[in-house]
Amino acid sequence: MGALLIIGGSKGIGNALLKLEVENRKVVNISRTAPEFEHPNLTHYGLDVLIDDLPNIEEIDGIVYCPGSINLKPLGSLKLEDFKTDFEVNVLGAVRVIQNYFRKLKKGHNPSIVLFSTVAVSRGMAFHASVAAAKAGVEGLVKSLAAEFAPAIRVNCIAPSITDTPLAANLLKNEERKEALGNNHPLKRIGSAEEVAQLASFLLSDNASNITGQIWGIDGGMGNIK
Ligand SMILES: NC(=O)c1ccc[n+]([C@@H]2O[C@H](COP(=O)([O-])OP(=O)(O)OC[C@H]3O[C@@H](n4cnc5c(N)ncnc54)[C@H](OP(=O)(O)O)[C@@H]3O)[C@@H](O)[C@H]2O)c1
Repeated sequence: MGALLIIGGSKGIGNALLKLEVENRKVVNISRTAPEFEHPNLTHYGLDVLIDDLPNIEEIDGIVYCPGSINLKPLGSLKLEDFKTDFEVNVLGAVRVIQNYFRKLKKGHNPSIVLFSTVAVSRGMAFHASVAAAKAGVEGLVKSLAAEFAPAIRVNCIAPSITDTPLAANLLKNEERKEALGNNHPLKRIGSAEEVAQLASFLLSDNASNITGQIWGIDGGMGNIK
């Protein structure tokens, strides 16, 4: 069995996925800082995925790209540079990784890719112009590559609402903030990294071998219902 390649397994959703998968399979992690633990099944490369050379990996069955951004500002405060930075980390980083590994991935077992969008693409939200534009790019990339790579490689996308990770730490400073943001959702709560990781794990598994080109909301209902 080939490895699962996680870009961003040191923190947040990628870290929860790493912990979920590493007991049962080889995991290769790429992030600038190391995950907080070592494991015989885990290989870590300390790299910036946007600029550093990517390592050779012998066999790969799955790729999950976790780097993202939450840069929330009114349009008047957003600079073009903000849009470029958000596009680079969310879209171009994923493109760089996929271009580097897709030929090898194609030879893997039930090979698949999971990328991350946000609920702010399906539901317009104030101050999300830059990140929503970049994540809409991710969704377009997912559907295009799902078509291009079928039937060899499945490509799916997860679109969370606010999730309790280091990326969202500024928005979730205390329990009151968490409760207030949770109450904006039909299901009256925010998400956890572990439950998003469970969905990613399912999409990578043989149980999802007939699923590709989909955007999976995990958002307390916010994307689709009032
Ligand atoms: N959390 C939310 O509320 C939320 C909501 C909607 C969508 N999402 C999306 O879900 C995905 C995962 O989010 P998260 O909250 O788990 O993010 P996170 O807590 O910021 O974790 C991101 C991971 O990516 C790694 N990373 C970031 N930039 C990197 C780079 N240039 N090179 C290598 N590794 C890099 C980070 O590790 P190092 O810092 O060690 O490099 C970290 O392990 C993102 O795409 C995000 O946009 C999250």
